[in-house]
Amino acid sequence: MILSLAVAAMFVPAGISTEIKIDVTNPGAAVEPKMYGVFLEEINHAGEGGLYSELIQNRGFTDAEPPPACKIVDGKIVPPRTDHWWEGHPVEYTFPWNVTNDHPGWEINQGTVKLVDDPLNEVKKKALQVTGPAKISNEGYWGIATNKGESYKLRIWAKGGPVIAKIVGKDGKTVSSAGPLNFEKNKYTLKEVTLVADKTVAHTKLQLDLPAAQTTLSYVSLLPKTTFKGRPNGLRKDLAQMIADLKPGFIRFPGGCYVEGLTIESRSQWKDTIGPLEKRKPTYSPWGYWNTNGFGFHEFLQYCEDIGAKPLYVFSDGVSCAFRSGTYLPDDQIPALIQDTLDALEYANGPVTSKFGKMRAAAGHPKPFNLEYVEIGNEDQGAKYGKRFAQFAKVVKEKYPKSKLILSSWISGIDKPAIDAAMKDGPLDIVDEHAYKNIGWALQNFGHFDNYSREVPWTVYIGEFACNGGVGFGNFAATLNDAAYMLDMERNADIVRMGSYAPLLQRVESHQWDVNLIHFDSSKAFGRASYYACKMTAENLPTHVVPSTFKTTYPTSPVLAGQAGLGGYNTEVQFKDLIVNGQPVPTESPVRTQRGQWQTSNELVTLIKPSDGSESWTFFGQDQPIKSIQTKARKIKGDEGFIISIGSISGQRVQLNFGGWGNSIHAVQINSGGAGYSSRGNIETDHWYDVNIEVNGLHVKATLDGKTVIDATLPRPDIAVASAGLDKKTGELVVKIVNAIGSANQVKLNLGKVKVNLNATAIVLSGNLNDENTIEQPTKIVPKSSKINLGSDLTFNAPPNSFSVLRIKLQK
Ligand code: AHR
Repeated sequence: MILSLAVAAMFVPAGISTEIKIDVTNPGAAVEPKMYGVFLEEINHAGEGGLYSELIQNRGFTDAEPPPACKIVDGKIVPPRTDHWWEGHPVEYTFPWNVTNDHPGWEINQGTVKLVDDPLNEVKKKALQVTGPAKISNEGYWGIATNKGESYKLRIWAKGGPVIAKIVGKDGKTVSSAGPLNFEKNKYTLKEVTLVADKTVAHTKLQLDLPAAQTTLSYVSLLPKTTFKGRPNGLRKDLAQMIADLKPGFIRFPGGCYVEGLTIESRSQWKDTIGPLEKRKPTYSPWGYWNTNGFGFHEFLQYCEDIGAKPLYVFSDGVSCAFRSGTYLPDDQIPALIQDTLDALEYANGPVTSKFGKMRAAAGHPKPFNLEYVEIGNEDQGAKYGKRFAQFAKVVKEKYPKSKLILSSWISGIDKPAIDAAMKDGPLDIVDEHAYKNIGWALQNFGHFDNYSREVPWTVYIGEFACNGGVGFGNFAATLNDAAYMLDMERNADIVRMGSYAPLLQRVESHQWDVNLIHFDSSKAFGRASYYACKMTAENLPTHVVPSTFKTTYPTSPVLAGQAGLGGYNTEVQFKDLIVNGQPVPTESPVRTQRGQWQTSNELVTLIKPSDGSESWTFFGQDQPIKSIQTKARKIKGDEGFIISIGSISGQRVQLNFGGWGNSIHAVQINSGGAGYSSRGNIETDHWYDVNIEVNGLHVKATLDGKTVIDATLPRPDIAVASAGLDKKTGELVVKIVNAIGSANQVKLNLGKVKVNLNATAIVLSGNLNDENTIEQPTKIVPKSSKINLGSDLTFNAPPNSFSVLRIKLQK
């Protein structure tokens, strides 16, 4: 949308201003043109029930199988208690096993069924034996959505009686039907038929009528004809397009923890993911469900090619997920695993005359895919991992010299021992750091990458980044932090060459990770505000970094103001005798409550039922600058202690968390994030504590029974950060600004003597900190593009809480 001069003309109260000094005459490093990519992992039903277009859940009747090497005990998956690779001893880990019958995904409406061993081929051994007359149905993943006129290809491997297939809506009305499909009595045969939907229905199921006394079903698949780029066995069009719209320079696949596996037996193995669909061995995702591998190695490479992204494939290094079991392949099995990696590279890159190159050609792609980015392992650590990495790296580089070898650098930061060990024994091109951060981190630590050493022969890839702590399921505050993080990467693009937000996709009905970029159900999809921030950065990637500095001037110091809040997290708590700024505050009627069940009187405030997994709050008194709070507080029962809010700064709640982090830390927090300003300590049950909080500007001091437990000066949360670059292809200066301030900010560009065209373009994403796009309001926060005039003083008025990109033409 073009809003003529709207942003420039916005009224800005006298006050906050940021000067950005940009040294346009001194451009620095060239930015990697494919800097931003995506990270696609089988988590949150990203592929299975998501991007992969298969509509049937448990198409091969294999989903009741427990994960390999694991036991099911009392409804929980228990991995083998053998030694952990790093810990050297077994670790305790269980995961819920929610399978309640032997045919998950299938509903038996009439007749009886039995899961039997009746192999279709050497891989697919299970089958569903149905005693009829019977009717069984499958609603896929939370409902099969149909589109009027759309064709759906039904493929059934079966034997015995005939099958009549119908797509039926929730109202019982048939959307399409086919059959009878006649099978041989005692031998599996394949029948294929096309069902054409006569209606668009958001939630249908596939129903199979089985009139004979016995029918054995081995495989039932329903794939839409319309897929992304019309590929057979292809991808869901809207989701694939949304990813393509991010203009990813590369796709990192298939994980993450998924690559490693819950156990070493369930690691991802590329050979299970190629060839005829009914011969692909499913993989158990460590995120708690089976993956058919229908979206496999070949489909991944094809998708990358289709959207102009480079493939980045992550191979197992023979160690399973450190958080789950840490089970591993012993050293003597590593040569075979390295050979397996070489086989994959031959499939992707080898000539059609080679064994695996020939398989690629047979799958419809004679030309090599040019897979260069090769990552070995995920989130492993230390010298032991570095050594193992080197074993792979040496061999891969020798056979494929163009490959770029990526070491996964544990979580957060650069893993020096792993890197040193890797480099001692072999080549290393890129280090992949993972960075999941709390709210405020990226803003407060802006310039973090400035300190990364340039005296290294490798570059940095931030393979997984997101602001996902203290932001609920992702809100606009998270987006401002994500944008700030990307700006920090961009200003350091000489060393931070690549980055990908994580995770990418989330099925709305089932997610295992709270903050993700794109949400979808069976028929709809939308991007969180961070999706648009990623899109804005990718679409406005400069060709060269330009040095910049910035300084914000505030007319006043920040004031902590609001109502006093009393709260608890997963804990029943009680408060009495509340005094704010020296005045007793009545507590009979709260001004407002947020979550949890509260009982209040002037004598006692009790959280009788805390909300599950989130903070419960009740607020008292008037809105005012808070200088002091005294109260008595007691923990009745639960995991943690109590929380007290002392108002907000710049719209961000400040709270004191006594006995947070599993009753181990006392901390002052901004917007529930970070334990940066803290001390160790716990809260005893059934003890009335005398709580005393003093606030002086941003300095907060708290005592419990007279003992100081918090004494900290908070950073201003309301700050602005910026980066600058040159787009030498268009002759434009590209300036990116995150204004994480709750009011407008007059941004003044100081370009020295450099002359620019004052008519520029501004692309702005703005919102309230707690707002987010939803399935009901999918475009509440989207960027708006407008033509602006910077004026002779080169000023841009950044809206409150906004991320803006300015494109400014340089004058020759
Ligand atoms: O992105 C989700 C998970 O986070 C990935 O699987 C893993 O690499 C990281 O710990």
